[in-house]
Amino acid sequence: MEKTQRVQNVASLSNETIPAEFVRSEKEQPGNSTVRGTQLEVPLIDFSNPDEEKVLHEIIDASCKWGMFQIVNHEIPTELITKLQSVGKTFFELPQEEKEQYAKPPDSKSIEGYGSKLGNDIDNKRGWVDHLFHKIWPPSDINYRFWPKNPPSYREINEEYGKHLHGVVDKLFKNLSIGLGLEGHELKEYAGGDNMVHLLKINYYPPCPCPDLVLGVPAHSDMCFITLLVPNDVQGLQASRDGQWYDVKYVPSAFVIHIGDQLEIMSNGKYKAILHRTTVSKDATRISWPVFIEPQPEQEVGPHPKLVNQDNPPKFKTKKYKDYAYCKLNKIPQ
Ligand code: SIN
Ligand code: FE2
Repeated sequence: MEKTQRVQNVASLSNETIPAEFVRSEKEQPGNSTVRGTQLEVPLIDFSNPDEEKVLHEIIDASCKWGMFQIVNHEIPTELITKLQSVGKTFFELPQEEKEQYAKPPDSKSIEGYGSKLGNDIDNKRGWVDHLFHKIWPPSDINYRFWPKNPPSYREINEEYGKHLHGVVDKLFKNLSIGLGLEGHELKEYAGGDNMVHLLKINYYPPCPCPDLVLGVPAHSDMCFITLLVPNDVQGLQASRDGQWYDVKYVPSAFVIHIGDQLEIMSNGKYKAILHRTTVSKDATRISWPVFIEPQPEQEVGPHPKLVNQDNPPKFKTKKYKDYAYCKLNKIPQ
């Protein structure tokens, strides 16, 4: 079991001050580096629009110019999302000893399990967030050891959610494929088809007495192909635009979609991975549920072969996802 102190505990002990390991450098502190008074209205795409050409163009445009968009009127029932949020919240409200039963084993090579990131980056700072990671697809990759048994409906609801996601993922991949001049099925096929890993994460950001000094998750782009995220209603997601940090407008019932590194690579740079980070609230708990759609570790990903030729040389190396992940996590140039 990890010996790390959970942020949830730190938060419950913090009245006015917080441990120094959470205080960001002056430059990074959101209090100093957020453009106030404007919320970023990232493209909002209505998935139920019968004008499919319009949806196609909106997805392509947002993926090229933003790397982030929100989708509304997708086919996932609101009640199912509410239940997903409810069971995840209940898990984090369990007594600490019970949550620790799901802690990521220290010697585990997989990211799965309950945990908090250690301050082992260059600046040794910790994020104001605890998390739970577990895969929800494909069935052969699921390790139920990391799925909470409590609340008892956790498994059923998460399985149901996993099933519903396929439709949204397929629609995104199809449109993104066409946007590259490929056949609708080609991008997903190259990415690993129905074997693509769906990795669920729950981010649990407790209230913090000094929200201007800390970050939940520091600036990063997601490593995967795409991320489909549902947050609760507490503001916290920020995106970088023209070198400045902005709050991303919270839209009830929307999915936030992030273009990740692997999609930028497959598209040979046409689609852009979004640089983002999260802030935390002084008095409310923020929770978010991203699902990372990613390659199998042994899967090789590079610019799609049909997109490169002598006139359009590859801008990225082709490599196994596990090697990409290793370099990214250890800050080794790709
Ligand atoms: C993340 O990027 O890992 C978290 C995003 C969020 O909580 O909204
Ligand atoms: Fe992220």
